[in-house]
Amino acid sequence: MYKVAITGTGVFTPKEVITNDELVKAFNAYADKFNFENNDLIERGEIVAKEHSSSDFIFAASGITQRYVMDKSGILDPNIMHPSLPKRDDDAPSIMAEMAVDACVKALKQSGKTAADVDCIIVAASNHERAYPAIAVEVQDLLGTSGFGFDMNVACSSATFGIQSATDMIKAGSIRSALVVNPEICSGHLEWRDRDCHFIFGDVCTATFLERLEDAKVAHFEVISTKCATQFSNNIRNNNGFLRRSLPEGLTDQRDMQFMQEGRKVFKQVVPMVSNHILDHLASEKVDASKLKRLWLHQANKAMNDFIGRKVLGRTPEEGEQPNILQDYANTSSAGSIIAFSQHSDNLNKDDLGLICSFGAGYSVGSVLVKRAS
Ligand code: COA
Repeated sequence: MYKVAITGTGVFTPKEVITNDELVKAFNAYADKFNFENNDLIERGEIVAKEHSSSDFIFAASGITQRYVMDKSGILDPNIMHPSLPKRDDDAPSIMAEMAVDACVKALKQSGKTAADVDCIIVAASNHERAYPAIAVEVQDLLGTSGFGFDMNVACSSATFGIQSATDMIKAGSIRSALVVNPEICSGHLEWRDRDCHFIFGDVCTATFLERLEDAKVAHFEVISTKCATQFSNNIRNNNGFLRRSLPEGLTDQRDMQFMQEGRKVFKQVVPMVSNHILDHLASEKVDASKLKRLWLHQANKAMNDFIGRKVLGRTPEEGEQPNILQDYANTSSAGSIIAFSQHSDNLNKDDLGLICSFGAGYSVGSVLVKRAS
């Protein structure tokens, strides 16, 4: 069995930002327009008037202040309210592959490696731009790597499940290295006209380069172990694909193509599931939680992370012990914990232990215990 190291990470951040105030202004303009156009139905009590959203509510409920997106203009246009991402020719790179290549190049650069050193690419995300050919195979082509690639989807847990898959293949010797890539165009699956959730998501892509420990050339983390679990729930669901270009036959409304959730239930059910999962993972490694120097958690909701951090550590996490990035990025699905890891791991010392943990639809939860090796 080979030992495995994470030697590089990369983050592609879209150029366009939407602040809470900009988002709320667009939503409220849409709500006013809807109420005006449907005044008769509202007056007759046949439909309910749309209420205004509020920046204060958004920050208090989630901790989010802004989000990056692939197309701001469509989302903020009260007549459109979704990203306008034109269909591309089959010969042009897909949007997700372009995002992925940017993140992969950054991860390889940090690792001190090139495309020639990559044996496998796993594109692990909540939503894939198409069913096939796999985005991973396109990324392989664009980067010029050999070996193989495949796509996988475990919703917000895709990154950690992808890291477990890559780790196990490297351990067993079937590959020497892998890029695990998480392109998330969450703006495509979000209903920007739904006040209860219109603020939740943003777009991003992360990449993690894993290789045999013996091949590591730069400062890195050893992967001590991984642990994945799933348990069926309908509380976070998307029934029907995601990137809206035109509605499929038979669908008159796009809601069935988008993210839906029972947010309160998710909050209550997932917090104990994740806390117990992390504690079980640590127990199986005979690691006391007090030995953990850092928790890089999935970034969906600040209060949720605060609860999990307190339950795992048995006290309120200190500044920097459990970094959040969702104030800047919002929920970026599978990429969130990897952004936190990428941006907040440099200042750990040799032999420090940390844990990456993602969770979400399925339900699913995945954790990766790492040790700073140099
Ligand atoms: N602006 C102003 N008020 C709003 C609002 C908005 N945009 N959206 C909802 N509200 C109101 C509601 O109408 C409700 O009012 P009421 O109490 O008078 O009925 C009130 O705020 C509380 O709504 P609620 O949905 O209970 O808010 P919340 O505090 O639970 O926060 C979430 C909502 C979604 C942020 C939170 O439940 C959450 O993060 N859950 C977990 C999400 C998650 O991890 N999902 C996984 C995704 S991968």
